Amino acid sequence: MEKPHVFVTRVIPDGGMKKITAFCTAEVWAEDTPPPYEVLLEKVAHVDGLLCLLTDRIDAQLIGAAGPDLKVISQMAVGFDNIDVDAATNRGIPVGNTPGVLTDTTADFAFALMMAAGRRVVEGERYVKAGLWKTWSPTLLLGQDIHSATLGLLGFGRIGKAVARRAQGFDMRVIYYDPSEAEHDGLYGARQASFEDVLEQADFLSVHVPLTPDTHHFLGRGEFERMKSSCVLINTSRGQAVDPEALYRALSAGKIAAAALDVTEPEPIQPDDPLLTLDNCLVVPHIASSSVATRGKMASMAADNLQAGLEGRRLPNCANPEVQL
Ligand code: GLV
Repeated sequence: MEKPHVFVTRVIPDGGMKKITAFCTAEVWAEDTPPPYEVLLEKVAHVDGLLCLLTDRIDAQLIGAAGPDLKVISQMAVGFDNIDVDAATNRGIPVGNTPGVLTDTTADFAFALMMAAGRRVVEGERYVKAGLWKTWSPTLLLGQDIHSATLGLLGFGRIGKAVARRAQGFDMRVIYYDPSEAEHDGLYGARQASFEDVLEQADFLSVHVPLTPDTHHFLGRGEFERMKSSCVLINTSRGQAVDPEALYRALSAGKIAAAALDVTEPEPIQPDDPLLTLDNCLVVPHIASSSVATRGKMASMAADNLQAGLEGRRLPNCANPEVQL
């Protein structure tokens, strides 16, 4: 029997790729940048399965252009805001994602960013490499203590909870606001609070909401006005959760102390983006889940979802399980 044909939109870690080639004929987009939309349009018309990334726009038009053979869309990411899941559901196409395996790696990284921005690690490194370090100074690069500080979490899902668990080891007071209103009060010592209280009380504010129409620009001018001038913002969720112009104004006017961003709007951030001119804004290229082990697990999980979809089985992790009932 002929193997199913799939299109893989970028080179993924070997383990996942080996699984895929064991049951599929795979065409892989080998460039460093995502395939253009027109290429995706052409590919989905002919393939049986698509393995995509969060950098691919899988909208209603693209799903409409899918040929009759397309049985599954498997995304190698936990977030799937780049995919029009309703359009896929309407065509009966299951959409896979990779939750769970990246939770701890992403929480580690949120903590790394919090500590780096709070304690001005990157500024310190730039200072030394610029040859500016002349002596020990009582007032050099004063930052914010992590221990005993109040950590505000926006979103208390898997990753938010994993950050709260880490914060216990630093004697932090943790408060959270979760727009989904799930009840987890007391878990890992974290207390539920109103959105306003989290904004007003946080010394560190870490964003962990999925991107939805409700969380688009969740933090904007009004929210920055409420925050402490010593607050450090950390975003490892999606860039669009924070209004970048409002963030620039807040950072440059001293409304908040610093920001550390793994994600930006747009992504990638443009080299002339005003945020990159600020010493108190640390930006890294969407690498929170980027450990060797975790990216390997994500690729393997995406391969498993792809295989299940092609074989007409229930996807181990599915964003629209209703299509499989
Ligand atoms: C990364 O941002 C992901 O959604 O997996």
